[in-house]
Amino acid sequence: MKRLLRLIAKQWITYALGFTALVLAIVLDMYNPYYVGSIIDRVILGGELAYLKTALLALVGITFARAVLGYTKEYMFDLSSSKVIVELRKKLFDHIQGLSFAFFDRNNTGELMSRIKEDTDNIMSAICYGFMLFLEQVIYFGVATVILFTIDWRLALVSLVTMPLIEYVVFRLEKQVGKQYEKISDQRAVLNMTAQENIAGVRVVKAFGREKHEILKFLKQNEENYRINYDLVKSMATYNPLIEFLSNLVSVLVITAGGYFVIGGEMSLGTLVAFSNYIWMLIWPLRMMGWLTSVLAQCVASVKKIDKLFDEEPDIKNYQDPKVPEEIKGHVEFRDVCFEYDGASVLKDINIDARPGGTIAIMGMTGAGKTTLINLIGRYYDCTSGSVYFDGIDVREMDLAVLRKNVSVVMQDTFLFSDTIEANIKFGAGEVPDEVFRAACRDAMVDEFVSQMPDGYQTVIGERGIGLSGGQKQRISIARALVRDAKVLVLDDSTSALDMETEYAIQWAMERRKGFTCFIIAHRISAVKNADEILYFEDGRIVERGTHDELLRLRGRYYETYREQYRDYVEALEKEVV
Ligand code: GTP
Ligand code: MG
Repeated sequence: MKRLLRLIAKQWITYALGFTALVLAIVLDMYNPYYVGSIIDRVILGGELAYLKTALLALVGITFARAVLGYTKEYMFDLSSSKVIVELRKKLFDHIQGLSFAFFDRNNTGELMSRIKEDTDNIMSAICYGFMLFLEQVIYFGVATVILFTIDWRLALVSLVTMPLIEYVVFRLEKQVGKQYEKISDQRAVLNMTAQENIAGVRVVKAFGREKHEILKFLKQNEENYRINYDLVKSMATYNPLIEFLSNLVSVLVITAGGYFVIGGEMSLGTLVAFSNYIWMLIWPLRMMGWLTSVLAQCVASVKKIDKLFDEEPDIKNYQDPKVPEEIKGHVEFRDVCFEYDGASVLKDINIDARPGGTIAIMGMTGAGKTTLINLIGRYYDCTSGSVYFDGIDVREMDLAVLRKNVSVVMQDTFLFSDTIEANIKFGAGEVPDEVFRAACRDAMVDEFVSQMPDGYQTVIGERGIGLSGGQKQRISIARALVRDAKVLVLDDSTSALDMETEYAIQWAMERRKGFTCFIIAHRISAVKNADEILYFEDGRIVERGTHDELLRLRGRYYETYREQYRDYVEALEKEVV
């Protein structure tokens, strides 16, 4: 809340202008019934024709000024609130971007999206219309009450007596409608999710022949949506006429009682007309209070949710006195590293010494902990015990930006942005010299297929790179890592979708480039066999390690994998030996 108030306070000038226009508009509104009353008394009943011109001029003037003030008020409130929301969204987005991987493991995208969109929208309606109308109605109510009592305290009392009844019905309606709105909002979220999932996953739906089922599912939710909306309409239809009736009842009561006063000569007809106009300035605020309180309550709830998100601290923070190596060589060391996800042990006693320029290959069954291991290098997670060193500095003490700039990762799941191929490759690399870009595209074999596209590197690809094959996407993400020219390159299963020929070509290119430390996770022997050290993982432990030849001689797991992949060749060799 404090954060929001601070942002609002920053816009105080435009808010103050809006508020001034609002107060002036109300003051003018108060003159309207007065002039109408005096036209009746002095012109219609009193025959004072000369006054008509003055009164009409005043009324036209008021209407005109009122329009200008109304515009200024809305404009100023809209402008200030939009600025507040833009700033709030920006801060929220920056904050979310700063959170660590572990946070995103725990929270789903849909929820975060609704914080950024729906909750900020709720706050927007509250600080714009909600805030403006609330102020306006409170002032109307206060000023109108004073005026009514000044005109005639007995009539004022008559009208005030019925007000609590109106307020009671208004709040009853709001309570009911509020719950229904909540249901509608929840249901809409489900409906949106179903539609979104089905559109995003349309290929899976079609491939599994689930169209009918999914359509039925959507229809059911759509019907449910209709039912809840119908309930809302029913509540409105019950309560609104009642509120209308009670409001008119006040008018009738006032006119009846006032009528007696007029007949008795205690009050002029014009005053009674003015009075009954002022009454609506009491009734409207009451009728709006229900809606306004729910808008404000929704805003408070949204602010709380957003505050909770702002309170999330990134697990990975820059060290208070971050260190930077004198010379970046790309020496990565794991010393007695253990890692747990929420108490479940994933990596145990890992010791690795990756010398600058060397290649470490990592193999092992799925779920063995390979990705988890390489995630510790760029400090996407911190190890539970032990340490990871980068050029002799514990990564927890190293400047995070420098560390990440020097560790280039090709992630296991390729994610491409809906942008051009060039922008996807240069993503996050800052200024890239042309020759570096071209070399990366050549080495990652991107050139090969992009040169055949009519728009070349300017081709825009879909949100998940639709229109590209799995291997082409992998090649783009390899180029994205190469363009950064980092001292440590991590390839997480990033050649799995490539044919042997392309894989070899990329391997050759990497050999040629050398000068960086490389971690390769792969399942194919062909991708790892040239590495300086091959680590075989099982259940979070390194169970075998050595060069290709050493591991073959060991006749362990690595050898088994080798035999599986080169069965025919191995069998032929063994026969020859016999
Ligand atoms: P493949 O990529 O399939 O070859 O497996 P991997 O060797 O890369 O496995 P990874 O390091 O991704 O996962 C190791 C173990 O950690 C698995 O048992 C996962 O279930 C578990 N794991 C991975 N990510 C998370 C996470 O975010 N939270 C929790 N609790 N467990 C996780
Ligand atoms: Mg993995």
